[in-house]
Amino acid sequence: MAMAISGIDLGSPEAPAAQADLRRLLNESLVLCVRDQKLAPPVFRDAMARFGIPMKRLQLASTPECDEVNIISSEDRDVLGDGKKLVNGASWHTDDSFMREPCSLTMLYGVVIPPSGGDTQFVNMYAVYDALSSEMKRRIDGMKVIHKYQSSRQTNRVTKRTDSEMKAMPEATHPLVRTHPETGRKALYLNANRMEQIVGLDRAESDRLLDELIAHAIRPEFQYRHKWRQGDIVIWDNRCTMHKANADYAEGERRLMHRVIVAGTVPV
Ligand code: SIN
Repeated sequence: MAMAISGIDLGSPEAPAAQADLRRLLNESLVLCVRDQKLAPPVFRDAMARFGIPMKRLQLASTPECDEVNIISSEDRDVLGDGKKLVNGASWHTDDSFMREPCSLTMLYGVVIPPSGGDTQFVNMYAVYDALSSEMKRRIDGMKVIHKYQSSRQTNRVTKRTDSEMKAMPEATHPLVRTHPETGRKALYLNANRMEQIVGLDRAESDRLLDELIAHAIRPEFQYRHKWRQGDIVIWDNRCTMHKANADYAEGERRLMHRVIVAGTVPV
């Protein structure tokens, strides 16, 4: 999993000619890093629009130049009123699984990188599924899971949302095993942060099974850890990966990311 390429400027007029290759590399590697980019927000949005339709994520701050480019910053804090640093995405998740049509891809652009820490970790959910026993594959085949923005299983700090923001994030029920619409491969579809309960199981049994699957998924052999360089654009496929940000950089160090997500389809 994961590949880094350089020698391409995603903002240049020649970049669209490389799009089919980029898409193929992404499908093969699941996490694709394009090094040494210097893109203003509208150019970043337009480059990412070649992968899908950029979506507005109103719950996060956006750049003044472009609504579809969100800001993830070490200066995001105090949203719970306790003055503590809030690091978005600091536990294992796949983006927006509480939506009926979660985004397919996320693109994160490293604008300011702290001298140490702040890596993003990824898990290959195809490999996670492939490594399950045949008995477990049979057991979970056809199971569905309720995903919620404010799941009662959640252990990390999550921004409190207003009633109108919550209405824009209805819960969704998704298969536990999904088939990637482009590669045809099966992946376990987990979001440790947003899963509420497996449909048809009682709460205790559902919790046991979800905990077992999460523990299996985050084993080191399925992981890749991205150490950011300024100018990296990392594109990942939410349909076959989970990820988490690391909140381990020093207080006072800056980390600034620009983020675009592109539309997906109902998981099947
Ligand atoms: C995210 O979860 O989308 C952000 C990841 C990061 O900031 O490393």
